[in-house]
Order: sequence, then structure tokens, then C-alpha cells
Amino acid sequence: MNIVLIGFRGTGKSSIGKLLSNQLKRDYIDTDEYIGNSTGKTIKDIFLEKGEEVFRTIEAEAVATVSKMDNQIIATGGGVILNNKNVTNLKSNGTLILLEASPEIIHLRLSLDDKTADQRPSLTGKEAFEEIKHLLDKRLPLYNKAADHTINTSLKSPEEVVDEIIMFIEDSQKSNKSVKPHIK
Ligand code: S3P
Repeated sequence: MNIVLIGFRGTGKSSIGKLLSNQLKRDYIDTDEYIGNSTGKTIKDIFLEKGEEVFRTIEAEAVATVSKMDNQIIATGGGVILNNKNVTNLKSNGTLILLEASPEIIHLRLSLDDKTADQRPSLTGKEAFEEIKHLLDKRLPLYNKAADHTINTSLKSPEEVVDEIIMFIEDSQKSNKSVKPHIK
């Protein structure tokens, strides 16, 4: 079973994913990095040269490939939930953990993150903070629908978030065992 991190840009998917991978001794895959390696281009260049629709097709292929792997910690791009097929693929062998944060915290984190320049092209043409609020509103129902568990990372340390994920995974493994029907 994979552990899949979903959520908007700047909610901590990559940093939490790497910590989780160290702690659980499992491999870590970031779908944006996977796309960067497989195309030899930055996400921003794919958007500029081919547009968002082509990026979403490449992203769906990457998601289909990583979903077939096992025991991975997978950090996804913030828009992965826009395509229901991605969610179905990820859920086929994964527990989906939604990371949330307030628009203010997301804005601050994105402005301080080196990855923003290459990996996070504007998606709406709006000013950065306006775009965050607009897209969070639009995407929230999709994030909530996809999530098996949600953690607000705004005021938590990465270590606290990792502990909460591990507790959730352990609890769900225990309850899965206890609800298994008794076979005579
Ligand atoms: C996107 C988020 C980015 C990246 C691309 C599109 C989005 O990933 O996939 O820029 O639509 O929210 P991060 O969530 O890792 O920044």
C-alpha cells in the first residue's frame, strides 16, 4: 500500500513526504520530479511550451505509473485531483492524506520556496494571493472527496504531521484487521 500526499501547493507535501520516507524507510516519489525527469523539462516550461492541458495528460500518465508501484510515499502535484482517473488510480493501492493550510501560510511558503520559480507557473493569471484563494475555493470539494484523512499543517511542525500520518496509517491497519469477516 502506498501513502499518497495530496493538497494545494505549499501545504508541505514534499517536505513531509521526504521525512515520512526517512522515518518509515520507504521510497519517496514526487510526481512533479518524475515528470521533470521523464520529459527533461521544468513544469513551467511544459506549461509555457505546450499549455496546461498537455501538462495534465503527462501528469495523468505519471500518476498511472506510480500508482502501480507499492510501498511508496508519493507526493502529488496540487492539481492531481482535477482528474478523477488520477484519484481512482492513486486509491487503487494507496491511502490518500490531504494536507491543508491557510491561504496566508500557503502564500508565505510559496514566496520563500525555490521550487516556485520552475515548478509553479501561474494557473489563472491572477495576482498570487488571489490565485491561491480562488483555486482553494474551487478545489476544496475535490480534495475533500479524495481524502482518506486530512491534516491542517498551518501551525504544525513537519515532525508532528509525520507522527499524525503514521498514527492514522497504523490505526487504519488495525481496524482493517478487526473488521475482516471471520471465515470458517
Ligand atoms: C500545480 C501544482 C504544482 C505542479 C504544477 C501545477 C497545481 O505542484 O504540479 O505547477 O495545479 O496546483 P505542487 O503542488 O507540488 O506545487
